Amino acid sequence: MNSKAMIIKELRKVIEFYGELGFEYLPLKREDIYGLISEKTAITGRDSVCSNQNRAGDEDNYISDKEDALKNLRKEIGDCHRCKLSENRKNIVFGEGNPDAELMFIGEGPGRDEDIQARPFVGNAGKLLAKMILKMGFKQEDVYIANIVKCRPPFNREPGEDEITTCLPYVEKQIEIINPKVIVSLGKIAAQSLLRSKVPISKLRGSFHDFQNIPVMPTFHPAYLLRNPKEKWLTWDDMQKVLEKLKKR
Ligand code: URA
Repeated sequence: MNSKAMIIKELRKVIEFYGELGFEYLPLKREDIYGLISEKTAITGRDSVCSNQNRAGDEDNYISDKEDALKNLRKEIGDCHRCKLSENRKNIVFGEGNPDAELMFIGEGPGRDEDIQARPFVGNAGKLLAKMILKMGFKQEDVYIANIVKCRPPFNREPGEDEITTCLPYVEKQIEIINPKVIVSLGKIAAQSLLRSKVPISKLRGSFHDFQNIPVMPTFHPAYLLRNPKEKWLTWDDMQKVLEKLKKR
């Protein structure tokens, strides 16, 4: 959460707190409001919901707004039967990682291993993605990984347009909650779905595109790279651009 959003969130809590005490007005100057935020913190014993310092010191009780929002979204999805992918799936693969991630990876949809484990990118393609993340200087737990569709298409076929249309709002909501600095979309389906484009991945990749003011770098899917290892350098080149962009934002 950016600092403006954090301040608004804190202010709302301050106003609610004083509302509960019976105050109808807060005739305060800006400096007083900042004072109240720390005063309320002392009274309630809670620091900013998004403070990483608090996270370190109060691990068990810490739930950030983003974690909450993601949990609520998962609840909203429920035991989804909104499309026919639900007929054959074992598990819904919601996505996982750091709710405060600056970098978000979006794949196409779960494969066999992901369907079994209910976790994204845990199979062979996932191992390559994990190596790439490490090579970029991140830990796996720094980033957030999700897919365009959350249920495995049978026989690893591509998800159909109807299935993508049904599931897309959920990954879009995940993006809105996490609000990463940069998105990397993996493969044709992820890029074309997010960007509402029909342009081939070979043309989309290598330059930034826009998704609701967040730069998106489409690159090849790791499963494609496993089949075409000579193309790996192109994806590595794309990731250099991502790292540059992260430095600037
Ligand atoms: N391929 C994807 O696109 N997503 C996964 O989670 C795994 C493989």
